[in-house]
Amino acid sequence: MSLSTTKALGRSDSAIRRPFRWPTLLTDNGAGLAYGGDYNPDQWPETTWDEDIRLMRQAHVNTVALGIFSWSRLEPREGEYDFDWLDRIIDKLGRAGIAVDLASATAAAPLWLYERHPEVLPVDRYGHVVNPGSRQSWRPTSPVFRTYALELCRRLAERYKDHPAVTAWHMNNEYGWNNRNDYSDDSQRAFREWCRAKYGTIDALNEAWGTAFWSQHVNDFDEILLPRHMGGDAMANPSQQLDYERFGSDALKEFYKAERDAIARICPDKPFTTNFMVSTDQCAMDYADWSDEVDFVSNDHYFHEGESHLDELACSDSLVSGFALGRPWYLMEHSTSAVQWKPLNARKRHGELIRDALAHVAMGADAINFFQWRQSRSGAEAFHSAMLPHAGAGTRVFRDVCELGGLLKRLGEAGLQGSRVAPSRTAILFDADSEWATRCQTLPSMKLSHWHDVRDWYRAFLDVADRADVVPLRADWSGYDTIVLPTVLVLSAADVRRLADFVRGGGTAIVGYATGLVDERFHVGLGGYPGAGDGLLRDVLGVRGEEFNIIGDEGEDGCDGCGCGGDGVTAVGDPATVGLSNGAVCRLWANVVDEVAPDAAVLARYEGDTATEWELDGTPAIVRHDYGDGTAYFVGCDFDRGDIARFLRDVGYGRGRGRADCADGWADEPSGQSDARILHVTRETDGRRFDFYINRAHDDTVVREPAGETLIAYRCDTGVADGAGVADAAGAACRAVTLHRNGVLVTTTASRTQ
Ligand code: GLA
Ligand code: GLA
Repeated sequence: MSLSTTKALGRSDSAIRRPFRWPTLLTDNGAGLAYGGDYNPDQWPETTWDEDIRLMRQAHVNTVALGIFSWSRLEPREGEYDFDWLDRIIDKLGRAGIAVDLASATAAAPLWLYERHPEVLPVDRYGHVVNPGSRQSWRPTSPVFRTYALELCRRLAERYKDHPAVTAWHMNNEYGWNNRNDYSDDSQRAFREWCRAKYGTIDALNEAWGTAFWSQHVNDFDEILLPRHMGGDAMANPSQQLDYERFGSDALKEFYKAERDAIARICPDKPFTTNFMVSTDQCAMDYADWSDEVDFVSNDHYFHEGESHLDELACSDSLVSGFALGRPWYLMEHSTSAVQWKPLNARKRHGELIRDALAHVAMGADAINFFQWRQSRSGAEAFHSAMLPHAGAGTRVFRDVCELGGLLKRLGEAGLQGSRVAPSRTAILFDADSEWATRCQTLPSMKLSHWHDVRDWYRAFLDVADRADVVPLRADWSGYDTIVLPTVLVLSAADVRRLADFVRGGGTAIVGYATGLVDERFHVGLGGYPGAGDGLLRDVLGVRGEEFNIIGDEGEDGCDGCGCGGDGVTAVGDPATVGLSNGAVCRLWANVVDEVAPDAAVLARYEGDTATEWELDGTPAIVRHDYGDGTAYFVGCDFDRGDIARFLRDVGYGRGRGRADCADGWADEPSGQSDARILHVTRETDGRRFDFYINRAHDDTVVREPAGETLIAYRCDTGVADGAGVADAAGAACRAVTLHRNGVLVTTTASRTQ
């Protein structure tokens, strides 16, 4: 088996991407928004199946993901297959017009397999073998497991390749959920091959990993080790660790490709996908890379309860849309209400079920699926919400599920499918390397999180009514006016050159603290921080620093396993924040800027008692530097979202920028865009646009409606207001719609070119 090293081989782009293929529905023309969920009929007696299908039709369900955890029902004993029950349910669903996204069923293997082949079980970093009994208890690199899994894939493909109700293949499930990091000997062997493919010579690897440190010189690829537990106080080599993270993503991707191709050789015509996991605390894989290998991008999104709920959803979705290169994507799972896997599982409040689903559509989803159709009565997920709750069809949740089905049908009939989210002017850049690297335990602070900083910047842009896109670092961001790099710790020389070219050509770059400190080998750039690109990043930013000032009380989040001894406090008695001259507060990290280019402008300095105590009084904190035809901002410290928004307003983002009035619905920025209380997203297709206005506030918000016909007014009061606070900029009265809490307005407009 050979593992490819995508990162080493080149950028992921549309040239190497599989062609976009979207599953057809069983509607007359195969079109429409897909609606449904995971369906586990094997958890129930067959006598419930007809009721399931009747209620699915009542709810306008037109698609289900089937058989995801059914391996032990499909192959109850080695080599003994039972597809009859699956035939029966697929036939029933097909007759009811419900398309099947058929799983490869390999996510949870039967116990007989583990009993016979315990050598497929993963091993944790301490050398403990993981026990079977849950799911994904297998090594991604096990040749034995692969043989069994591919055989099942082949059997399924042979049996269902021509079934008209099977319209897509759902490979495995959330690859890596439980076996992301495997420290087995199989994994070590595969890692050695991966390193050989990436580096070619052992000298190149020694150089890249900096193995002169701590006698880590490697004589041969056969001496390469996984970063296993090396003792209580041991610290892994971060270069090796980063490669291990990349390898883990690649190893699972290779396994996915093997499963996909086992089916594709027999059934090449139906599209393939697998469900990614992009939501608030997860972005486990290099999904920008994985996206090249699916025919359409799918994601599972679970809401983050509390005030960030909608914003976090939009941020995650924006990144997924970026993975999909702006094409429609498939929401494979979300929840109708509470999950059961957090310490405290909040339910969704009234309106959130439909609001969330419509928000996903606004952000580019053409398919809205839930985990799962019928709530389980036993097993680990019995208290996870579903479309059909324990209490049955006479429930608020099921009524909402039915209402949502009707709304999605309406959107499908209005021609939404295939339209694209209109790009914003700003791209916030995300990269898996930096996400993995900021979790490294040997940085100046263990509190870094690239992905969470992306989210804070995303929310701050919403707060100034200037929505940004979240875009993979390796994507083409040259079409944006502004790029933002929040804690992009890892920047290769090539990426710094792209950044410099972007600014030189007239773009604006906003570069955050702890960005560009190391290259793709995790080597620190020399000559002063930030040192990426051999000084080019410093030239662009017009700053140079010698140190970092690390602050903050880490006690609250705990430091489990970080080796700090549990107190987690940087310095008892020292100020835990530092004030700035513009009123902002630095919370965790300050790049101490010692030199500023003569042509750079210092926009804010550290100031006040806290700054004096840290010997930072007067030190530049935010710097603007014109470079070529563009501008670079260096925001050298960690702000909360309010202070980020303040910075954005100060430098001209948000209100007033491109604002249109409601008399001109076709102005560049429709009116909702200028209101921070509204998440406003436009989807466009040839000849038609759809505007989604979603209330971010907990109380009523008025949308000054742009031209267009109302398609959906969910938890809204529509009407005409005359001057009562809803006049346009010129003072003329205009149509206004009041969005209540969780309210969503969707309008449609024929384009001018029609
Ligand atoms: C110990 C070790 C050194 C170095 C320092 C770092 O003192 O002996 O090699 O690791 O810690 O603080
Ligand atoms: C994941 C899995 C599902 C289910 C849900 C529960 O997304 O893919 O099988 O376990 O979580 O939230």
